[in-house]
Amino acid sequence: MTDYAHIHQPVLLEQCVGLVAPALRTPGALAVDCTLGLAGHSIAFLKAAPQARLIGIDRDIEALRMATARVEQEGLGGRFIPVHAAFDDFSRVLEERGIDTVQAVFMDLGLSSLQIDERERGFSYAHDAPLDMRMDVSQPLTAQMVLERYDAAALTRIFKAYGEERFARQIAQEIVRSRADEPLTSSRQLTALVDRVIPQAHRGSGNPAKRVFQALRIEVNGELEKLARTLPQIANRLAVGGRLVVESYHSLEDKTVKSFMMQGTRVDAPADMPVVPDDMQPFFAPLTKGAVMADDEERERNPRAASVRLRAVELVRPVPQRWRRRFEHEADGSMQRAGARHGATGRRRGKRG
Ligand SMILES: C[S@@+](CC[C@H](N)C(=O)[O-])C[C@H]1O[C@@H](n2cnc3c(N)ncnc32)[C@H](O)[C@@H]1O
Repeated sequence: MTDYAHIHQPVLLEQCVGLVAPALRTPGALAVDCTLGLAGHSIAFLKAAPQARLIGIDRDIEALRMATARVEQEGLGGRFIPVHAAFDDFSRVLEERGIDTVQAVFMDLGLSSLQIDERERGFSYAHDAPLDMRMDVSQPLTAQMVLERYDAAALTRIFKAYGEERFARQIAQEIVRSRADEPLTSSRQLTALVDRVIPQAHRGSGNPAKRVFQALRIEVNGELEKLARTLPQIANRLAVGGRLVVESYHSLEDKTVKSFMMQGTRVDAPADMPVVPDDMQPFFAPLTKGAVMADDEERERNPRAASVRLRAVELVRPVPQRWRRRFEHEADGSMQRAGARHGATGRRRGKRG
């Protein structure tokens, strides 16, 4: 029997169950885990909420296969619906199943340890592998294509924005220079290149290529765009009393989650308005005070927990109409931008070397 718990340890498991399960007490309650992975969190939710069903979404077909086997192994298959999709298809996934609202939505962003350890997918700077980095191998864009096609300015932008890399410009310039001699195809070539560029005196702990790998992965998988257009879809599908619980692992992700949640926790009326109408009252109530982080013991045991930020809100009144429309628009608007990003290589990528 496969020891799944050994492959991937769910981060802040107890805290996540404590936040999700209270929304799943009513018979027929439905939860969606947007990032099923190996179902570590999902199994704990199903066990803590014996009345609930759970839809588990993952864009990684291999993760979905393993998670389904694991859920069945636990005897929970009857309340589990696996779905192969990207989570920004959230509304469509529910629509196709005739589901209007759900009681809880969970996201554990980023990669599973399984993906990090799968050498041939090129996510890790620790192993030599082709520079692929796609979570969904059916999409065309790979890390190698980014390194081949983006110009120095575009590479600098992604290393800076998604990796917070101080030497973004120097690394980007070195990539453009070195690919003229030899294409960059392997993670070993990329780690060696970063190693040449970052001065010894400016290295922190860990592998100096870590931030560049993170940035490439975020770009290849369109992670921030997908998150930004998924959160509004979720808000429009939460039942009153429903909960949204999100674990993120880098500051831009956390910023996106934080600002999305915060906008619903404020009174949406001028400060001098004598009586605030119902539809201007906050519709989210925060369930965490700021972001919850892992304690030393968990960080020690599970390195993935080191950067986690957990935030959660409860929907306390129906999302007001004007917010619903705004959320629909945000889901659509960023969808078009993302379409342009991946589809229109000729136009936007035209300026990339
Ligand atoms: C950190 S793992 C989840 C681990 C899981 N909570 C567990 O305990 O086993 C994140 C998972 O989300 C998936 N994922 C990331 N981005 C996604 C997206 N946009 N749509 C669907 N799945 C996504 C990844 O393929 C990965 O399997």
